Amino acid sequence: MAITKRTFDVVVVGAGGAGMRAALTLSQAGLKVAVLSKVFPTRSHTVAAQGGIAASLGNVNEDNWHWHMYDTVKGSDYLGDQDAIEYMCRAAPEVVYELEHFGMPFDRLDSGKIYQRPFGGHMQDYGKNPVPRACAAADRTGHALLHTLYQQNVKANTNFFIEWKALDLIRDEDGDVLGVVAMEIETSEVMILQARATLFATGGAGRIFSASTNAYINTGDGLGMAARAGIPLEDMEFFQFHPTGVHGAGVLITEGVRGEGGYLVNKDGERFMPRYAPTAKDLASRDVVSRAMATEIKEGRGCGPHGDHVLLKLDHLGDEVIRHRLPGIRDIAIKFAHVDPSKAPIPVVPTAHYMMGGIPTNYHGQVVAPHRTAPEDVVQGFYAVGECACVSVHGANRLGCNSLLDLIVFGRAAARQIIEDLKANPNPKPLPADAAERPLARLARLENQKDGESVAEVGDAMRKTMQQHCGVFRFPDLLAQGVSKIREVAERVKHTEIKDKSKVFNTARVEALELDNLIEVAQATMVAAEARKESRGAHAREDFPERDDKNWLKHSLYFSEGSRLDYKPVRLKPLTVESFPLKARVY
Ligand code: FUM
Repeated sequence: MAITKRTFDVVVVGAGGAGMRAALTLSQAGLKVAVLSKVFPTRSHTVAAQGGIAASLGNVNEDNWHWHMYDTVKGSDYLGDQDAIEYMCRAAPEVVYELEHFGMPFDRLDSGKIYQRPFGGHMQDYGKNPVPRACAAADRTGHALLHTLYQQNVKANTNFFIEWKALDLIRDEDGDVLGVVAMEIETSEVMILQARATLFATGGAGRIFSASTNAYINTGDGLGMAARAGIPLEDMEFFQFHPTGVHGAGVLITEGVRGEGGYLVNKDGERFMPRYAPTAKDLASRDVVSRAMATEIKEGRGCGPHGDHVLLKLDHLGDEVIRHRLPGIRDIAIKFAHVDPSKAPIPVVPTAHYMMGGIPTNYHGQVVAPHRTAPEDVVQGFYAVGECACVSVHGANRLGCNSLLDLIVFGRAAARQIIEDLKANPNPKPLPADAAERPLARLARLENQKDGESVAEVGDAMRKTMQQHCGVFRFPDLLAQGVSKIREVAERVKHTEIKDKSKVFNTARVEALELDNLIEVAQATMVAAEARKESRGAHAREDFPERDDKNWLKHSLYFSEGSRLDYKPVRLKPLTVESFPLKARVY
């Protein structure tokens, strides 16, 4: 079958904040850039980010990048790589001012400076008091950011492939990456996009869980493609549960609500967080707050007829503050929880939100993996940024607002690295003859499968398994059963059938292809979680309740082939300052 081929300098897969920030610098440098997106670019999941982007501007109270770095290292439960964390926190003010100059409509203080609010785990003076560090556009910061970057990309002549789905990476026999094979969703046309650099910015994979704050498009596509191409996935056991998803709906209620003064109460009306985090209280880091909520529920202090949630109280903020600073939350509460938050509290539960792990990279966005016989080396031509990547700045637990920051800092850094790398390697390598073989075989299998199970049923089995066996608290028996169950589901995925072969919107075919990616992420998460015999950040084991730095201060690497794990050291040495020594993490 003849396949159309198009050639670019750079192919970016994903049009969220990271992909668009990278594409902007690349296009402005005069490179021919293609950005592939499953959805219209401004519908990418960054649009749902609410509370803010972290940067130590110090517009409200004194702040500096080193305090931000300390908070991020501590928030990561010391698993974050300190070189990358230093790089990110130092760059934060500059990238935020850049966004401001691109036209991003931040809220303003009376002084005219960018508005900042407190967020979980962001503190002054090495952990002393919460500090307003989240630069916000009401509670729609991601929306403002994404639209700004899209407009700048249109101006810079970035080529968008809208409603195109990348299917697989193209790697040659040296292991170098030469582009992707992709499919136009509307027509099922398959195309090779050859590029001297391929950048994955495909976002997260929250859809491995039944209850998630993530959009339906968050199906771990980049991770699935990387895993099938032999790249390991790093630190996949660390999945963040956001404390405040709307009970029963999963929709995100920003931590910015607590930053503005909201707080959590149990069925007795008790504000319980001071018992768990005496200094930061409701603004402790997310793993701490989620565990506190789960404990309240488990110990019988949950709310509602089933005692299965707690309440987020913000009526005391007043209607004016709620309408002005939290208008999106007001809408969400009314639509999804049927409460007016200026009159009644919002029922909330910890909800799967963010994947700390991902495709291993350095802070230049280059993918690093065992390669060319070296235990760790740069994979030529391959870059990853944003949630699909593991730099690792978030380690075992990400701080709120550090994700938008990660997108922008490393999107820009990867673009700069690509520009340098393309100068050094100006000629494209020839494509291997079998460049499209694997994705075409996957498509053919889906077309020809008879009497297979439906994609929806198998997908549900995966989501239920993850939800029941790999939650906020993790239990040894449940994890062991989870590994067997998820492996069984993976076998079933190989025999799914597209029940609706019509190509109206092509959703059935796309969902089947997405399930191939989700199951890679689900297996990596479950296997790595079962293997890590300690509690650290978002990974809380009932049988190993303490952090164990002697044996487990290391990153996991999950290899899809053989479903096996390896480990590598944490980079404890920052770029220019002293390491933050390991200590107990209290808020
Ligand atoms: O709570 C929030 O607004 C989410 C922010 C984040 O995940 O960084």
